[in-house]
Amino acid sequence: MSRSAIIVETLETVAERIGDPKDQIYARLFAAHPHFEDLFVMDTDGGVRANMLATVFDCILGVADGSESPRLHLEAARVQHDGYGLSAADVHTIFETVRDVCRDVLNEDWSAEMDAAWDAMLNELRTIGTDFGA
Ligand code: HEM
Repeated sequence: MSRSAIIVETLETVAERIGDPKDQIYARLFAAHPHFEDLFVMDTDGGVRANMLATVFDCILGVADGSESPRLHLEAARVQHDGYGLSAADVHTIFETVRDVCRDVLNEDWSAEMDAAWDAMLNELRTIGTDFGA
């Protein structure tokens, strides 16, 4: 199976098991980085968090598909988020959080093949649009 098919299959399985993983992703992110939660104080209805996560998933699927949109999203997000005091490494943590939630939901169905596909995808997202990228 191609890397992109593995990523899509992971996300589909997560959706079948728990529906929208949004709450788990933000809960895990804020548990590991409590100061990130403070930044969303104005997001009283969760709309910004929902839009942000939609963009995050667009990046994940875009990398899997080899599209240009992750680079564009990430270049914009790194500049925008610098304004919230977040480094490029901080911005990247949400992608790792998505992977960690998927891995926990899949539990014993998380395979070595999935692990490798997500690892490669995360590496690509980390370096995309940066000077140290491929
Ligand atoms: C741990 C990582 C991240 C944190 C802590 C974070 C934090 C934030 C904050 C504080 C806001 C604005 C909240 C407000 O205006 O009230 C925001 C908005 C946004 N973020 Fe992030 N961000 C992260 C990663 C990302 C990534 C990786 C992307 C996309 C590649 C992204 C895309 C966006 C977008 C598109 C918005 C605007 C949403 C809207 O206004 O509806 N963020 N983010």
